[in-house]
This record gives sequence, structure tokens and C-alpha cells, in this order.
Amino acid sequence: MNILISKSALQTINIGKRLGKVLKKGDIIALVGDLGSGKTTLTSGIAAGLEVKDYVRSPTFTLINEYQGRIPLYHFDLYRLSCLTDLEELGWEEYFYGEGATIIEWAQKCKELLPQNHLRIELKVVDKGKSRQINIFLPEDRNRWAMPTLQGNYAKSQRNSSR
Ligand SMILES: Nc1ncnc2c1ncn2[C@@H]1O[C@H](COP(=O)(O)OP(=O)(O)OP(=O)(O)O)[C@@H](O)[C@H]1O
Ligand SMILES: [Mg+2]
Repeated sequence: MNILISKSALQTINIGKRLGKVLKKGDIIALVGDLGSGKTTLTSGIAAGLEVKDYVRSPTFTLINEYQGRIPLYHFDLYRLSCLTDLEELGWEEYFYGEGATIIEWAQKCKELLPQNHLRIELKVVDKGKSRQINIFLPEDRNRWAMPTLQGNYAKSQRNSSR
């Protein structure tokens, strides 16, 4: 697991940008964290790194927004998901295994559907609300996610081999 500390929304956006630059077709990023922990902020940075020009906001009522960047970006927000049937009706497989990359807020709600090889990111509010701890669980076969890609000057990191 890699641990980054972000002290502002801008730092979170910059972490997202670095992730977005290396994203490839078929990548799935599972975001887990409380309300206001920065999932959408991180997603907007990832979108910027993917060269998406649109403004990114949560697809709260539609469950999914699709953006066009270097590759398509499928942005799910499952906060209001009541059952997996809703995702079935949306045709989730066409996105997860489609032409673009997928980001899922509240991904714990669809953990049964996530392929093993996804990137899991947990966000936590720390420092009395002033900072965010961002825990990144790398898929095993993805060297391109190496820490130098993700780490900024400000970021504190820690590695260990467990997921
Ligand atoms: N270090 C930080 N990283 C990200 N956001 C931060 C940080 N510090 C403060 N913030 C603020 O916290 C809020 C995070 O909101 P955001 O919509 O990204 O959270 P979310 O996890 O998507 O919430 P929700 O569960 O409601 O979808 C924003 O208002 C942002 O400006
Ligand atoms: Mg959100």
C-alpha cells in the first residue's frame, strides 16, 4: 500500500492528474471514502490527466457520466445504488470491459463485480478536516503505477507488500 497525504483540494487534483496520465483502456479505479473525503475531487484530477475538457461532477442521479479524453472515462457514483440490478440494467460490463477507463465512487457497493486487477484508493479525512490521507492499493502486475509516478514533492509515502 502507498500512503499519500494531501493538504488541499489542489494537491488531490495533482495526484489525480498523475494517475490520469498513465491510465489505459480497461483500467478500473475503485474509490472508497466517506462523504466529502475527496473522491470527486480526485476524479476531476484524473480526468484532467486524461485530457478531459469537461467539468467533472458526480453522476448522482444517473449513476454514470461518460467523458471523452485521451480515452473515454466512465465515472460511476454508486452512493444512491440500491441493488446491483440497477448496475445490471445500465450494462456495467460494457463500461468495465469497454474502450475506456472506469472510476467508481462508493466502489464498496459493487465489490462483487470488480475484477481482481483493479486499483483501489481509500480516502480519509485527517488532521481535523484539513488534510486527506490517500491510501493506494496497487494491482500486482501494474509497474506503471510505481510511486514516482504518483508521488509529489509534498507527499509522504510508505510501501509494504500487502494489499
Ligand atoms: N486535501 C483535500 N483533498 C480533497 N478535497 C479537499 C481537501 N481538503 C479540502 N477538500 C474539500 O473537501 C471537499 C471534497 O469533496 P468531494 O466532492 O471531492 O468529496 P466526495 O468524496 O466525492 O464526496 P461525496 O461522497 O459526497 O461524493 C471539497 O469541498 C474540497 O474542496
Ligand atoms: Mg463525490
